[in-house]
Amino acid sequence: MNSGQLLCEIQVQPHVPKNFIWPKEYLEDAHEELQAPVVDLEGFLNGDNESTQHASNLINEACLNHGFFQVINHGVDPLLIAQAYDQMDTIFKLPNHRKVSAYKVPGSMWGYSGAHAHRFSSKLPWKETFSFPYHVNALEADVTSYFKSTLGGDFQQAGVTFEKYCKSMKELGMKLTELLAISLGVNDRLHYRELFEEGCSIMRCNNYPCCQQPSLVLGTGPHCDPTSLTLLHQDQVGGLQVFVDDKWHTVRPLPNALVVNIGDTFTALSNGRYKSCLHRAVVNQHKQRRSLAFFLCPKEDKVVRPPQDIISRDGTKLYPDFTWSQLLHFTQNYYRADESTLSNFTNW
Ligand code: SIN
Ligand code: FE2
Repeated sequence: MNSGQLLCEIQVQPHVPKNFIWPKEYLEDAHEELQAPVVDLEGFLNGDNESTQHASNLINEACLNHGFFQVINHGVDPLLIAQAYDQMDTIFKLPNHRKVSAYKVPGSMWGYSGAHAHRFSSKLPWKETFSFPYHVNALEADVTSYFKSTLGGDFQQAGVTFEKYCKSMKELGMKLTELLAISLGVNDRLHYRELFEEGCSIMRCNNYPCCQQPSLVLGTGPHCDPTSLTLLHQDQVGGLQVFVDDKWHTVRPLPNALVVNIGDTFTALSNGRYKSCLHRAVVNQHKQRRSLAFFLCPKEDKVVRPPQDIISRDGTKLYPDFTWSQLLHFTQNYYRADESTLSNFTNW
C-alpha cells in the first residue's frame, strides 16, 4: 500500500481493499463474555487491609486464569479521561497533510500511524494510532514538547492533558504493582516498584473508524502485550476480545472502568504464574471506536527476574534474566502474531 494513503480515505470505499482482509481463521466471532472480575480499588487505595486482601484475591484468580481484570474507583478523574478523548479526537480529525507530518518513522515507536502493516501481521489493521513516550522526570522528552514538535504549537493543550493523563496512569500502575506483589505473596509489596519508577512508559491513542465489512477485518490483530501491565480505557462501543479456553470472549466496556492486563514482562516477573493472554480488537459497521492504552514498562536496562522468594517457593526460575530493552528490540524485529513472544524470545 502507498504509505501516503490513509485509512480515512479508504473507509469511504464500499469494499474493503484486499490488504485489510484477514484470513478466515483469524476472524472467528466471539460468542461469550469474559468472566473477569471488576475490582473496586477504593479500599486498597485508602490503605484498608480487608479490602486490599479481597482485591488481591480477585486479581490473583484472574491473573492465574487469563491475566485480565477491570478496575473501578481507581482514582483517575473521569473528567481527565473525557478530556483525553476530546484531545485525541482533534488529532485524528486533522487533515492528512498534518497527520503525515507526525508519521512514525520506520523503526520508531512514536508518532502517527494509519493503516500501515505493523509487527502483528502482514495484514493491515483497521485503525489509526498516535503513540508517544512518557517519562516521569523527563526534562526534555516531556509530553507537551513532544506534541508541539510533532503536531504543531496548536497541540500544546493536548500535550498538557496527556501529560496529566499519563501521570495518573503511571501512579495507578505503580499502585497496581503493589497489589500484584501482594496477590503473589511477595514478602515486600514494594518489590516491583523500583523496576518501573524510572521506566519510560508507552501511551497509545487508538481510533477504529467504521468499516463497511467489519467481519473481514481486525482493528488490532491477535497479540500478547510484551510490556508489563496495560491500563486500557475503552469507550462504550466495545470491541476488545480475549482468547480464553480456545475461544474468543468479549470484554464488555464499563463506564469509568479501566481494563488491566498482564504483559509478557510481568509473566516473567511472576515466574510464569500470571498469564499474558492473546487479545485483539474488532471494529464496528456503524460506530467508530476509540481506546486509550497506557503500557507500563520497566526501566530499559534493569534486569527482569522474579523476586527471590517466588523463585525459592517455586524451586525453579522459568525464564532466563533479560532486560526490557532486549525484549523490546526482539519484539520490534522478530515478533510474529500468534506466537508467544516470551517463549520465542527466551529460546532465541
Ligand atoms: C491493543 O490491545 O493494542 C488495543 C486494544 C483495544 O483497543 O481495545
Ligand atoms: Fe494489546
